[in-house]
Formats: sequence, C-alpha cells, structure tokens
Amino acid sequence: MCGIVAYIGKKEAYPIVLKGLKRLEYRGYDSSGIALLKNEEIKLFKKEGKVLNLENHVESKDNSGTRGIGHTRWATHGPPNDKNAHPHLSQDGAIAIVHNGIIENYDVLRQELESKGYKFNSDTDTEVLCYLIADIKKNTGNKLGKSVRLALQQVVGAYAIVVMCKDEPNKLIAARKSSPLVIGIGKENDFYVASDATPIVEYTKQVVYLNDGEIAILNEKKGLKLYNIDEVQKDPYVEELELHLEALEKGGYDHFMLKEIHEQPHSIEDCFRGRLNAKEGWVSLGGIKYYENDIINANRIVMVACGTSWHACLVGEYLFEDLARINVEVEYASEFRYRNPIINEGDIVLAISQSGETADTMAALELAKSKGATILGICNVVGSSISRITDAGSYTHAGPEIGVASTKAFTAQVTVLTLMAASLARKKGKLNDSKYRNLLSSLEAIPQKVQLVLDKTEKIKKIAAKYKDASNALYLGRGSSFPVALEGALKLKEISYIHAEGYPAAEMKHGPIALIDEEMPVFVIATKGPSYEKVVSNIQEVKARKGKIIAIVTEGDEQVKQFADDYIEIPETNEYLVPLIATVPFQILSYYIAVMRECNVDQPRNLAKSVTVE
Ligand code: G6P
Repeated sequence: MCGIVAYIGKKEAYPIVLKGLKRLEYRGYDSSGIALLKNEEIKLFKKEGKVLNLENHVESKDNSGTRGIGHTRWATHGPPNDKNAHPHLSQDGAIAIVHNGIIENYDVLRQELESKGYKFNSDTDTEVLCYLIADIKKNTGNKLGKSVRLALQQVVGAYAIVVMCKDEPNKLIAARKSSPLVIGIGKENDFYVASDATPIVEYTKQVVYLNDGEIAILNEKKGLKLYNIDEVQKDPYVEELELHLEALEKGGYDHFMLKEIHEQPHSIEDCFRGRLNAKEGWVSLGGIKYYENDIINANRIVMVACGTSWHACLVGEYLFEDLARINVEVEYASEFRYRNPIINEGDIVLAISQSGETADTMAALELAKSKGATILGICNVVGSSISRITDAGSYTHAGPEIGVASTKAFTAQVTVLTLMAASLARKKGKLNDSKYRNLLSSLEAIPQKVQLVLDKTEKIKKIAAKYKDASNALYLGRGSSFPVALEGALKLKEISYIHAEGYPAAEMKHGPIALIDEEMPVFVIATKGPSYEKVVSNIQEVKARKGKIIAIVTEGDEQVKQFADDYIEIPETNEYLVPLIATVPFQILSYYIAVMRECNVDQPRNLAKSVTVE
C-alpha cells in the first residue's frame, strides 16, 4: 500500500527515485509524485495515475537535484488526483514529506492547525503531518529531526515517512511505525530509502530495516544516526541483501504475472531445496525446528492471513489435520484481530503472508503475542515486518513476486505447509514409513509435473478464448481442492473483473445452483481421489441445468471427459499435493482471459500487492 523512494547523495536523485517508483508501483498506482531539492529550493511534481504519467509530465522540466523523495499512492484519504498525490509540502513550502500508512487522529490535528490559521490544499492525513512538523519546527526552533520526532509523538496510526527540508539540505529524515521502510547505505556516504529493498538493490546491498518507533537521520556529511521516539540513540543493524536484480525484471515475458506463473517449477524447488530428502527420508525446516514440540503439544494452531495467503491456510488446515492430526483453525486476520478471540498460553498462531507486511496479519500476530501465544510466520519477503516479529518461521524462497495477483507465492506457501505437516506427522507417529516416503518423493516430483501443466498453455489459451466474455463464473472443489476453487475464482475476478465465486462442490445446491444456466462456466477440480465420485455427481447436477463444465482432471480420466465441455488434464500425484498442480491451470486461464479482455494484468484496478493499511 503506497511506495516510498528517496535518495540523498552526490548522484542525480530523479532517475533513481523514478526507477524506484516503477519498481514499487505494485504497491499502489493511483497517483505518484517526486520532490527534488536543489540550491535550497524544492521542486514538486505530482500526477494522477501511473508513474508513467509522472515521467511524461516531468520529462521536459528541470529535474536536477541530488536529493529527492518520491511516492506512488494507493488512496486512503481523498480521491486519487494530482492534489492528493504525495509528496506534500508545508504551507511555507520549506518541508516536503512522503507517507505510507494512516494517521488516525488527523482530523483532530487538522482542526488544531486550522485554528492557528493554516489552510490545507489536499484532503490527506499526510499534509496534516507535514504542517504539524513545520509548525513545531517554527515554534520551537528545533532542527528537522527533533521536530519530526515531536510531531510523531502526537500521531496515532501507522506511518512510514521520509521528510526533507530546504533549510537543512544535507539530510533526510526517515521514520516508521507499522509500515515498512528500508535504508540502503551507499558507498559514497549516500543513502537510499524505500518501502522495500527492490529500488535499492542495484545500488547497494548494505541495508538497515527500520523497526517500529525508529527515526533515522540520514546526513550526507555525518552519516546515519538512529534514534527511538524518545531520542535514545541506537546502533543501526546493517544487513546484506540477498536479492538479485534479474529477479526484478520481466525476463522476456509480457507480464510479471506470466513470468511468475512460469517460474513455479523453480520456485517450488527453491522452496524445498535443502529441506527435504526423499531418498534418505527426512524433512527439516530449520526455522521452526525448535518449535515442533510446541506445535505438537499445542491445543490448536490458529492460521491467520488475508487474500491468497488465506487460501494457502485452508490447504494447510487440511494437511495438518489429515496428515498430522493437529487441530487447526483458519481465520481471516482482519476478523480475528477485532473479534476478541480466545487465545490461551500455549496456543500457536501461524501467519502466512507473501509480503510479510499486511497490516491486518501483523495486527493479528501482535494481538496473539500479547495474549501469550507463540507466533510463527511463513513469509516470502526476507526481512519483512512479520518475519521479524514472529518467534520463528520459514521463508518460502519464491523470489520477488511483482504481479499483484499472487501465483508462485501461493504454491510456495503450500509447499512449506506440506513440509511442515509431513515433518509433524512423522514426529507424531501419524505417518508410516512408506506413506511418508511416498509423500516426500511425490513432492520432489512436483516441479516437473507443474512444468507439464505449463506445457499445456496453448490448450488452456483456447479455453480462455471460449469463456472470456462470461459475466460470472463458478469454481467448485472438495477437500483440499476447495481452497483451489477459491483461489481460482479470486484469480479470475482480480485480474479480469469477471464476477467469480469459489464453493465447496456439495454446497452448490444450497444457493449457487440457482445461477446456473447455459451462460455460466463452472470450473471444477475433478481429480482422482477420495471425493472423485461425489464431484462427478456434482458435475452432473450442473450439466442437468445446462451449465458449461470446464474440468481439471487427472491424466487418463475418461469419466469426467464425457460430461465436460472442456477439460485440462494434470499429472497424477499424491492426493495431498493436488492443490500444488491443480491451481496452475486456473492461473494460466485467468491470465489469458484478462489479456484477451485487455485488462492490466500486473496492476489490476483498485488493488495493491502489499496492503499495509487496514
Ligand atoms: C493483497 C494482494 C494479494 C495477497 C493479499 C495478502 O490483497 O493483492 O495477492 O494475497 O494482499 O497479502 P500477503 O502479502 O499478506 O500474502
């Protein structure tokens, strides 16, 4: 939710900040803006819409300056227009700020400032914070860093901010609470700041992740100084980035989403590499090794997440309960955090998050921690907030996911959950040797099998062409294929704007069946397994109402093909691993339907990849 980029040093700031904003555009693309500081003057450029609009707007103008702050916005307060775009300036134009997050008490602060005679130019909470900093600076005579700190002491809410002031041109101030911020330390006493490391990696690998309540003063002359909100100085913890630049490029694909779909054979393998050996019969997830007994002895595990990650939790529930006989409850993080949930000491709360920054998921974990639960995480982004507040966890190692619709992160999350469930089941004695080894060797074979599905792209594309004009779609599955149905429906609606719903196949007769007519495509996961016959009956129920069946079937299946209008065969695998393969044709299908409908696949309307506000 909103991306921040900033630079201070000897290089020209504009190209660095602009490129960084393009990298962060997945976080929001309602508007963007840049403020540049040169000769004690701030130049401000802002434009509604994509970063490209900003680039076109700035192109012919003087964009020189060696300090700059930039922002790409996902609107919270006020409509997405030029006026509400960041950066915001103080009334006297001396201070510029970019902000990611929400200032909850902005209205009170705004009224106080208005009573002092200030006039605001935008509807945003951010402009209020900027005026507040300027007001404190003017009235106290404090320097910028202290003024920012005093202003933040009055703020209720979440923020990641970067502030620059024309009267103190040698510094930028960066601060965070509940919204992420990373500082890159350049080789020439120059500094980069961004919401994640992707705009920084090509310049430096030395980074400091700001913690909640920290304020950094980045001074071109005096270096980096870090304080907490009470002005106690802290030692910055410098880390080495593991990110590679190539992972941030499209690599010849038309869209990041397509690239990420095609990366899955590798990302799944990267996820289990070094953690699994089928021949020797072991699984080892270093991150949670010391917590396995706690998990086994816990009364229950509560899995919390949002969006696609929540669907992964549902697959996890199935795996943990069926394989390891461990009681799991799956919760939407946003509901869990406000429901006064019963959490006892000894409960385990496991959060799943691609970005590791989702505000609701973070808050759910903080709540669980405050009540004495052990908190664990499965995250993709290394160094993310969730990975740092949890007691332990596992990374998915899927590499950067840029397309807003999650694909490879989902299959990697399910892979980690499978490894966890297998390890716990074995430890609990719930899985005999041959079943255990079969599960592990089947998991090792998944990358090849996913590749076989990717090889069917041409066929799937033809099916996409057939259904691209649908207005509605239904996705059905049973058991662990029910979350696959939910995920299939989510992919379609996110990127093609076709209304789609996922349902447990048997629930169809309690409502959705009323919608079925000859116009309605019904996507069904009908692979061989314990509920196969029952799904076949559900398919017949759809056909009896003239619905169109598009079935995902196991290779060699003959029965479903008789009723299906279209089918996609997927290779046979261990029943617990079906979600890892069955989800892929739905990703491809949604992708091509969205392309055929000329939708913006990587940046669908109104969405953002990293939802750092509630
Ligand atoms: C947003 C993204 C989804 C993602 C969800 C949860 O809605 O568009 O793709 O599944 O947030 O994000 P997380 O980073 O916590 O997995």
